[in-house]
Amino acid sequence: MTTEVTSRVALAGFRRILGADAVLTDHEAMAPCLTDHRKLYEGAALAVLRPGSVEEVAQLLAFCNGTRIGVVPQGGNTGYCGGATPDESGRQVVLSLARLAHVRRIDPANYSLVAEAGCILANLQREAEAVDRFFPLSLGSEGSCQIGGNLSTNAGGLNVLRYGMARDLVLGLEVVLADGRVLSTLGELRKDNTGYDLKSLFIGAEGTLGVITAASLKLLPRPRAIATAFVAVRGIAAAVDLLNLLREASGDRVSSFELIPHIAVELTTRHIPGIAEPLAGEFPWYVLCELSSSRAADALDAMLESALRDAMDGGLLDDAALAQNERQRAAFWRLRESIPEAQRIEGPSLKHDVALPIGKLARFVEEASTWIAANLPDAVLVAYGHLGDGNLHFNVNARAGTDPLRFVAHADEVQRVVHDLVASFGGSVSAEHGIGRLKVDELVRYAPPVEIELMQDIKRALDPNGIMNPGKVLKVAP
Ligand code: FAD
Ligand code: MLT
Ligand code: ZN
Repeated sequence: MTTEVTSRVALAGFRRILGADAVLTDHEAMAPCLTDHRKLYEGAALAVLRPGSVEEVAQLLAFCNGTRIGVVPQGGNTGYCGGATPDESGRQVVLSLARLAHVRRIDPANYSLVAEAGCILANLQREAEAVDRFFPLSLGSEGSCQIGGNLSTNAGGLNVLRYGMARDLVLGLEVVLADGRVLSTLGELRKDNTGYDLKSLFIGAEGTLGVITAASLKLLPRPRAIATAFVAVRGIAAAVDLLNLLREASGDRVSSFELIPHIAVELTTRHIPGIAEPLAGEFPWYVLCELSSSRAADALDAMLESALRDAMDGGLLDDAALAQNERQRAAFWRLRESIPEAQRIEGPSLKHDVALPIGKLARFVEEASTWIAANLPDAVLVAYGHLGDGNLHFNVNARAGTDPLRFVAHADEVQRVVHDLVASFGGSVSAEHGIGRLKVDELVRYAPPVEIELMQDIKRALDPNGIMNPGKVLKVAP
């Protein structure tokens, strides 16, 4: 039986649970929460709810479950797939985790910390550093995204090659289920084989199965020696060979290996103040690579320099600049992390977040870029990203002066070509950004039917009334 309530009754219920100040209904106050970072969607909401405790989240979900009100969890709202934006009905609520932002425990001896979902990622990195430990998750949005959002999207970022995705850094989770029960697996154990690994279900679920309220996370020894280089490689195949050479030569100390095309250097130097070309000449492809070690005595600069010399002798690269100090290293990274912003300033872009077996990346880029050059004269390819993970942001920008609406009208056609090609290489059409609302149809198109059926079974079991982030990830609400 459906239990519909009027907006007035619902708002009274929310105010009873949270107090009036934590229930936003004023349009201006709600506005930043009703659209996504890329401005792809503009939603409406009954209210933005700002609970201050796990108990309040539990009471809210029990209430919404009973009254069949859709709940859209929202972290830092930096996601790329519209997952944190409510639909246009005005019947859903946004549940902001911003006030759950405490580090509950930090245990340097156990290399772990327990943080609430609303903690900003950069703050957690600093908390770890303060006790001489390292939390390796790192993304361009780390100053605003929250750990709850990172886990709900299973974020990747700049250090996956060495430390894995967000999922790999989790020891336990606290989750409020759709009916208001609290599942707590917040232990700080590295070994625990007692039954199904339930926490894994909520990682990467994009708020469709429950609300993550806290996480127990792994810490690592702090890197004490770091060597960073900006390298002009002779193409993508050469970059892959260089990665293998560096892994061998450094005893697997490569922590980042990012591909950057010349157009990205051009866009960042043009649009972002203070960014300069790292190398004197102009080359089509670069990598930003970093070796790191927790042993201060490791001579990583010498190791990297010698490996790059071998790679140059072997014809893999044309030039390289080794960061001579922390300032230069930061400048290389600033360039890399500014690419999305520079692209945004340049104009509309069609984004594709794809992963392929690393050995197939070069052929994929060649075939896809040939298609784009032949079919989209208004487009400039800006393909960059986490080459070490086989993950490219295969983005296509409009050439300056192109009519934005005409350009964006190509989005579906380009996506089909790019994604079909990715699938033919055995790749993924969402490497690290998730499905959200944007790629719901893509998931159905490319995932095996049994996988979709199992996802729907899980959704029905955990959220029988379909209140958790309706319309995201899975096409049909149960
Ligand atoms: P939101 O955008 O608020 O939410 C994302 C999804 O998670 C939504 O479906 C939402 O409903 C759900 N959600 C949020 N919090 C919770 C919770 N506590 N419980 C349950 N569900 C929840 N991503 C990468 O993977 N790698 C990158 O390198 C990267 N770089 C980026 C660079 C820039 C400049 C920007 C703007 C974004 C980048 N992103 C990247 C995308 C984005 O930052 C990540 O997806 C991030 O993990 C989202 O976190 P958030 O807190 O902003 O989540
Ligand atoms: C990145 O790696 O910079 C992001 O994941 C991609 C983007 O912001 O487009
Ligand atoms: Zn990325």
